[in-house]
Amino acid sequence: MKNSSDMTTSRPRLTVIGTGYLGATHAAAMAELGFEVMGVDVDPDKIDRLSQGILPFHEPELPELLTKHLSTGRLRFTTSIEEAGAFGDIHFIAVGTPQKDGEGAADLSYVDAAVEAIANAATHNCVIVGKSTVPVGTARRLQALVEKVKKTNVEISFAWNPEFLREGFAVQDTLAPDRLVVGTNSDLAITALRFVYQDALSRGTPFIATDFETSELVKVAANAFLATKISFINAFSEVTEKVGGDIRTLADAIGHDARIGRRFLNAGVGFGGGCLPKDIRALQARVGELGLDHTMAFLHEVDSINLRRRERVIDVAHSLLNGVNEKKIAILGTTFKPNSDDVRDSPALDIAARLYGQGADVRVFDPKGMENSAKRFPRLTYSRSLVDAVEGADLVLLLTEWEEFRKMDPNHIGGLVGSKVIVDGRNVLDVVEWESADWQYHALGRKSIHANPSILAT
Ligand code: UDX
Repeated sequence: MKNSSDMTTSRPRLTVIGTGYLGATHAAAMAELGFEVMGVDVDPDKIDRLSQGILPFHEPELPELLTKHLSTGRLRFTTSIEEAGAFGDIHFIAVGTPQKDGEGAADLSYVDAAVEAIANAATHNCVIVGKSTVPVGTARRLQALVEKVKKTNVEISFAWNPEFLREGFAVQDTLAPDRLVVGTNSDLAITALRFVYQDALSRGTPFIATDFETSELVKVAANAFLATKISFINAFSEVTEKVGGDIRTLADAIGHDARIGRRFLNAGVGFGGGCLPKDIRALQARVGELGLDHTMAFLHEVDSINLRRRERVIDVAHSLLNGVNEKKIAILGTTFKPNSDDVRDSPALDIAARLYGQGADVRVFDPKGMENSAKRFPRLTYSRSLVDAVEGADLVLLLTEWEEFRKMDPNHIGGLVGSKVIVDGRNVLDVVEWESADWQYHALGRKSIHANPSILAT
């Protein structure tokens, strides 16, 4: 039987239930910290691949970490929850909480099932730690569920420890988080988690121990704030597009105010991915259930501003080409952000699919997102390379700011396209450089978009 001192004198063994983005990263990172870790998933194919060191998604540094700890023997994978229940002293829950079909609310069926299964399978005293993003009130409800389903001779402490990792920086963010938040009513859970995260704590990482509700809200509040910041600058870009001005300079200028800060003020086609859009919708749904709809009503506007950016790119394409039907449009980028192969709620892929639906001859290229994009929209034309995509294009749309696109040579690309017209949907290219190479350069929220007066009318 483990108690608080056992947890810190003998190294606790960890399980991570759910081996998607969050879980696979957490499992490999915990092995890197020296723990014996078992990753658990209901998908045998995923477990098979992970056991062979094959990662089912793109994430820098993670393949190396996975291979390293399959070799050290500190990391293994299984589909058996019974094996996990017998093995682990601390069980991390890292399953998905996707948006429910046709609703804003989060689907909690996976998190409920995972907690119930591991609580039931635990053969000795342990801690269950939720990491998934959940609506406020979930942890308290799940703690009651754990008490109901666990074996009578087993004691289980329960905690919520939200994860703030960013795709593309997942390993770094897990090994060196900027804060650790733990919601619990158990001292044992606090002791256990302080032990697990001792490496970061020794470097001064803040450790915030709080109640369940605060810990759940910290996560959604952080994401709602980031989404609001992006939509804030994008709302101003609607103004600069109308009256003239340069959104990038505006962001730089307000960003110098330390109270505001420059990060997450990059205007463009807006936010996407598996977190920000879903989390602001789930938060609105949850406060609605609590009878507090008006409290988060502004998030509805944040969402609308974000989606309007996609419309704007489509309108600009129509204006520049006098209608898109049968026009060759090269789309650079399909992932929701660079250094990821994730196309969930990606503005870029959404724009590509809509232009295709409107009759454009769309050719897309993304350094890592082709496979996932083709699964989602098989009928788009997927080019083999950047050069292939822009060949003969009437219009180039840069929608995800991959390094390969940021450093494109306008002279070289200019020799390949049919018309030298580009829309920089991420505000990352050098206007002077592109205009000097005789390109008609447009960017969302920047003055040069008015070079073509017909766009003003849209
Ligand atoms: C986000 C949070 O940052 C992270 O803390 C949380 O754990 C999960 O959700 P992630 O989805 O990986 O992480 O991406 P993030 O880097 O936040 O970017 C989200 C979206 O916002 C991307 O589509 C990105 O292109 C867009 N974005 C970001 C902007 O449009 N402008 C900006 O200034 C910043």
